[in-house]
Amino acid sequence: LGTGHALLLTARDETAADPVLATVETELRRAARAHGGRLSTRTDGEPGPDVRLVLATTAVHPQPLPGDAAATEHAWHALVRRVLADPGTLPPESFRLVRDAGVTVVAASSGTGLLHGLHHVARDAAARPGRAAEDTAVTDEVRSPAQAVRMLDHWDNVDVHDVMGQVERGYAGGSLFFADGALRDDLGRAEEYARLLGSIGINRVGLNNVNVHAREARLLTEGLPDVVRLAAVFRPHGIRVHLSVSFAAPMTVGGLPTADPLDPGVQRWWADVTAHVYRAVPDFGGYVVKADSEGQPGPFAYGRDHADGANLLARALAPFGGTVFWRAFVYDHHQDWRDRSTDRARAAHDHFAPLDGRFDENVVLQVKHGPLDFQTREAVSPVIAAMPRTRLAVELQVTQEYTGQQRHACYLAPWWREILDLRPWGEGPTVADVAIGDGPGGRPGALVAVSNVGDDPFWTGHPLAQANLYAFGRLAWDPTLAPEAVLDEWVGLTFGADPDVRAGVHAILDDSWRTYESYTAPLGVGFMVTPGSHYGPSVDGYEYSPWGTYHFADRDGIGVDRTRATGTGYTGQYPAPWRDVYEDLATCPDELLLFFHHVPWGHVLHSGSTVVQHVYDTHFAGVERVEEMVGTWAALAGRVPEDVHARVSERLDEQLRSAREWRDQLTTYVFRKCGVPDARGRRIY
Ligand code: GCU
Repeated sequence: LGTGHALLLTARDETAADPVLATVETELRRAARAHGGRLSTRTDGEPGPDVRLVLATTAVHPQPLPGDAAATEHAWHALVRRVLADPGTLPPESFRLVRDAGVTVVAASSGTGLLHGLHHVARDAAARPGRAAEDTAVTDEVRSPAQAVRMLDHWDNVDVHDVMGQVERGYAGGSLFFADGALRDDLGRAEEYARLLGSIGINRVGLNNVNVHAREARLLTEGLPDVVRLAAVFRPHGIRVHLSVSFAAPMTVGGLPTADPLDPGVQRWWADVTAHVYRAVPDFGGYVVKADSEGQPGPFAYGRDHADGANLLARALAPFGGTVFWRAFVYDHHQDWRDRSTDRARAAHDHFAPLDGRFDENVVLQVKHGPLDFQTREAVSPVIAAMPRTRLAVELQVTQEYTGQQRHACYLAPWWREILDLRPWGEGPTVADVAIGDGPGGRPGALVAVSNVGDDPFWTGHPLAQANLYAFGRLAWDPTLAPEAVLDEWVGLTFGADPDVRAGVHAILDDSWRTYESYTAPLGVGFMVTPGSHYGPSVDGYEYSPWGTYHFADRDGIGVDRTRATGTGYTGQYPAPWRDVYEDLATCPDELLLFFHHVPWGHVLHSGSTVVQHVYDTHFAGVERVEEMVGTWAALAGRVPEDVHARVSERLDEQLRSAREWRDQLTTYVFRKCGVPDARGRRIY
């Protein structure tokens, strides 16, 4: 704004009804304090000629503008009048952005739309420091989120859980919401977090872990005042809250003898409890449910299926406009490794595809992006193409469970873009389109991710892991954004305009996911991690486990045969062309080779290398890349805040140690299995 004015225009009775408008005003005041300029609202009288930014709700039309009583009509008056005379129909989250002669006008039909517009303007200013003021380009555009439901799931427990700690798979300290077995008295950081999520367009938050323990199951009842307080933290940023609930709650919380979804007493219990929740939180989003999965209770105990289970909750939520997010992460976790006929990758499709068409309209089936479990590389889940009559959410994992646990720098946006861009039918809609509602069934679903935030002073443990959170929000808003461009925004907003910092962070993060892939499990085989913690190498750690996580390496070869011809038949769950692309060694992409095929160590990849030489080369190269990352970051000392520099340095040291460990274990393991030496004679133990 420089010394100019920002003007917030709302209709008289709007602010009381829309708490997000108060946030817009607070944000403008904060910005003016930090960067100069003044804010006026409609009640402040004559703002003069130097108005640079106007945020107006469409309800303002046709009321008179401030300063109308004065004799002079300023240039900005004319522009605002023009925009508000014909604002177009703007859905609540959209905004219209008009720039003309150095004045920017943002118009929206709701506080949320204005807030999105304001954050857009702020991002833009950060991307073009010093230039916005001179900008004379004329713009008139409407911006809307591609994806209507953009959700972050917290795997937070109220209590510290004996095995998982407080945040399941959390690598950034304890919960921002709960401490010492209760909701925090001081929710100041949660408020800052809500602000942060609002700025990247997240509009739903799941408050608690999908594995619902006894204490957390009671958030529905005795714990409801906690939910009321948290909803009040998120509401001013346009975010609705959800609870993960236990399917057994009618018994464990309600004291009923059964949780059978077809039992009228159970149905009544859910209806009553849900009505009680909505009395306390009228804009409650709904439930998230992990059922019959990894020991969580579900409908199978009563001989019912997942549609019976999901519809039970959907019908309790429907009168209030709530949604149930029912997770498709269902498989047999008591598998016998000797049993070669069971394939965990098949499980979600086997369970859910036959239920297509049976789910109520307010059920969203939440499908992990891959058929296994958030591996560094796996195929896209075939469920996404199999259920046109069901609303589908694609679930990503921002928390880096299998991708370095926020000790390794691993920017995940390039991976997410590959997933979202895949065309399940070869041509036509992408995975992102299916989630948006532009798939064959036309049903809107959601983009959901597991959060990576905790009470760590840097929010995400590894300060550079904030880029993943930022990228998730931005890609949920617009899945066509380029990962490098998104990173560029984040660097500018986080570190300012220093070109060396910008270049350094790009050098570290742009390819960091592929780097991580290169020194860990090769060619899509997955799961060579330490059992339980999932951190660091343990090549055979899961090889004889009950979890369905095998690579079948022996002296002759490695990989999982998931073909129709000789394997588990998993390739047959895909529509054409993928069922054939993956089935055939000649067309299966290298990076997924061992996910789909068992091949000899000497098998020649499309790249021209053999499998064994590929393992050697990528593992040595990966460690070299991490060595470069360490050097690049060291050179930024003094250019970024000292505490950030120290924390990232410490994490990079660990990344380098761990990458060497991965390299040495993987190369040694492979050499001992097959006896083929490295063609380049490097050191193998
Ligand atoms: C992974 C993770 C679990 C989590 C599960 C889920 O398996 O290791 O901690 O509960 O995913 O998504 O439900």
